[in-house]
Amino acid sequence: KPLVFSGIQPTGNLHLGNYLGAIQKFVALQDTQDCIFCVVDLHALTAQLVQEDLAQQTREIAAAYLAAGIDPKRHIVFNQAAVPGHSELAWIFNCVARIGWMTRMTQFKDKAGKDRENASLGLLAYPSLMAADILLYRATHVPVGDDQKQHLELTRDIATKFNHDFSARIEAKGLGVPMAMGDETVNGYFPLAEPLIEGPATRVMSLKDGSKKMSKSDPSDLSRINLTDDDETIAKKIRKAKTDPDALPSEPAGLAGRPEADNLVGIYAALSGRSKADILTEFGGRPFSEFKPALADLAVDKLAPIAGDMRRVLSDPAEIDRTLKDGAERARALADRTLADVKSILGLLG
Ligand code: TYM
Repeated sequence: KPLVFSGIQPTGNLHLGNYLGAIQKFVALQDTQDCIFCVVDLHALTAQLVQEDLAQQTREIAAAYLAAGIDPKRHIVFNQAAVPGHSELAWIFNCVARIGWMTRMTQFKDKAGKDRENASLGLLAYPSLMAADILLYRATHVPVGDDQKQHLELTRDIATKFNHDFSARIEAKGLGVPMAMGDETVNGYFPLAEPLIEGPATRVMSLKDGSKKMSKSDPSDLSRINLTDDDETIAKKIRKAKTDPDALPSEPAGLAGRPEADNLVGIYAALSGRSKADILTEFGGRPFSEFKPALADLAVDKLAPIAGDMRRVLSDPAEIDRTLKDGAERARALADRTLADVKSILGLLG
């Protein structure tokens, strides 16, 4: 049965990239799929161990989910630390995954920098916890931005190795289904979760540099539109966004080699639910001095209500905590079943 799982780290500055690459997709998927949306607070410890206010950041992501329109009654919204199964399954996956798989991850290389010996073990094992998040619920579809693609491949590698290594026991216990893997068929317990990375804004770039991803950690606030920015700030950031001097092309092929133009057109397309080709039919031949105000209006139109709703939701932290707790209880019930199966497959008592 299809199940959607995704998560966002409570590391501050939720931005337009997170919205278009993830949250907007979550909202669309909830109409047709069963969904679980997590605030991955344990992952945030790999960015910084001592955090100014992790609890508040966690509530902010939850508030963004709710403000964007996710229904926590029909679906599950919770924080990772409240369901111990994530850490438990991650430990087991640490024993399935190989060190080489982890050191190959581009995110690890970027975040660890040159002084790798001094990076935390958690940063190295990050993808193993992410695989646990997804597979604890045996989720089949994972909506994410393009930067998470490699982590999802690794999640599939972990599921594949587990299914392969334990195939006989999975079959003996009647817990799996036959799955074709390469030229053999194994009894798979974990599905090979598919990434959902589609549309015109799977990789939103910095407004100041079209070769850099829009990110929470960019020191320049002008590089990103935060979900909490007010109308003026959104308009100012778009006005100041880097562009080239040429008019917009009339079809997408003309965006090649123009990363900043491509990015702004992609943002417009994603915010309006239209294709880039469609946007360029409308704006082709027109200068940025005309396109930017239209984009600013659209961005304010779409984002201002979410910012307003986020403020409203955040004004009652106790209610957010209740929502997260209720979600965690329902998540735990699903997680416990998977853990019981996995322990029985491995031969772990208890
Ligand atoms: P995180 O918290 O860095 O980002 C949350 C989501 O936002 C997407 N995203 C972007 N999309 C488009 N353009 C951008 N510039 C941009 N920046 C971020 C990310 O791809 C992500 O979908 N490892 C994950 C969190 C995670 C997770 C999971 C996701 C933990 N466990 C299980 C899915 C399933 C992360 O760091 O996301």
